Amino acid sequence: MTLRNHGGGVALRSPTPLEGRLRGALRQASSTGDDGPLRALVGAEPADGRDGLATLAVIHGLSMSPVDELARTEVWQHHPSVADLRWRLEASLVERLDALADEVLPDVPAGEGAVAAMRRLARVDAVPEVYRWLAERATLDELVGFLTLEGGPDGGFDDLVALCQVGLSGRPKLVLAANYWDEMGRGDLDEVHTALHRRLGAALGLDGQPARDQPEPALLRGVLGSFLALSRAHQPEAVGAFGLVELQAGPRCRWVLKALDRLDAPHDAVPFYAEHAEADPRHGKDWLDEAVAELASDARWAEGIVRGARWRAAVGSAFFAHALETFTGPAELRRSDVDLDPGRARAS
Ligand SMILES: [Fe+2]
Ligand SMILES: [Fe+2]
Repeated sequence: MTLRNHGGGVALRSPTPLEGRLRGALRQASSTGDDGPLRALVGAEPADGRDGLATLAVIHGLSMSPVDELARTEVWQHHPSVADLRWRLEASLVERLDALADEVLPDVPAGEGAVAAMRRLARVDAVPEVYRWLAERATLDELVGFLTLEGGPDGGFDDLVALCQVGLSGRPKLVLAANYWDEMGRGDLDEVHTALHRRLGAALGLDGQPARDQPEPALLRGVLGSFLALSRAHQPEAVGAFGLVELQAGPRCRWVLKALDRLDAPHDAVPFYAEHAEADPRHGKDWLDEAVAELASDARWAEGIVRGARWRAAVGSAFFAHALETFTGPAELRRSDVDLDPGRARAS
């Protein structure tokens, strides 16, 4: 939208973010029963890509957030305006994910199976540089800032894996069920992963950051998870993306443990990452060898699994590169004053 400013020149005013309009319309509809503002959002466009992701985070929240946090806005979960926004924003998201994967990842070699493709993708950027920086250089405040955004190796994975297994059967369903049971601490309330994360948060003073305040790469990473868990049309992509989460988490957690040890962090900060450092390599192996291997005998599943793994790999790389740059500055400057040579770091 263009405006005349006081000097007579043309000034640009960014349109009101769609995310804020949607939240306002949901609040109004819930408190007064008037869904007029909500109906007016049919056909509305986001201000930019970031706004589109933040809007999707609100929409997905209607299906996945704890119901007590939704203040009755969940009543409008299936309102036609919400469905219209979701339909168009998710179509844009898929285009964006495909483009990002093509831009940052090598092509899939012809004839490569889904299991081999996922193994290969898991090795691309297996331990992003930001983890080595955490282990060797970050201050405690910087570690807290990073972990706030990272949200753990598999933030919210219990609900993601629960939704991902709907409609599966046989061995793949059992593999995802076993994974979920580990998320539930194998029946021990104190070992439930969200409980371990709460202990970590209390020990380090982590404050959850609302989606709308997160940098765009973090928002994209979060929305990818909720989109895949909720989209029946993309269940194969969900299996690929969530499997890649497991395949990549273990080594990354070990670098976070090094950082916690170097910084003498409180003891309660350790169990969450220690559990994932130990369990996720096993989760990744089981997911790949027993769930992916069986599902990928069907061509549609094989193609979707690899596509989802590529999405997650690409989104993860963009997130970690952005995080490193946020904390340590642009790469060309960083090289001159911070030694982050991966070879040296790996040998330590
Ligand atoms: Fe977990
Ligand atoms: Fe796991």
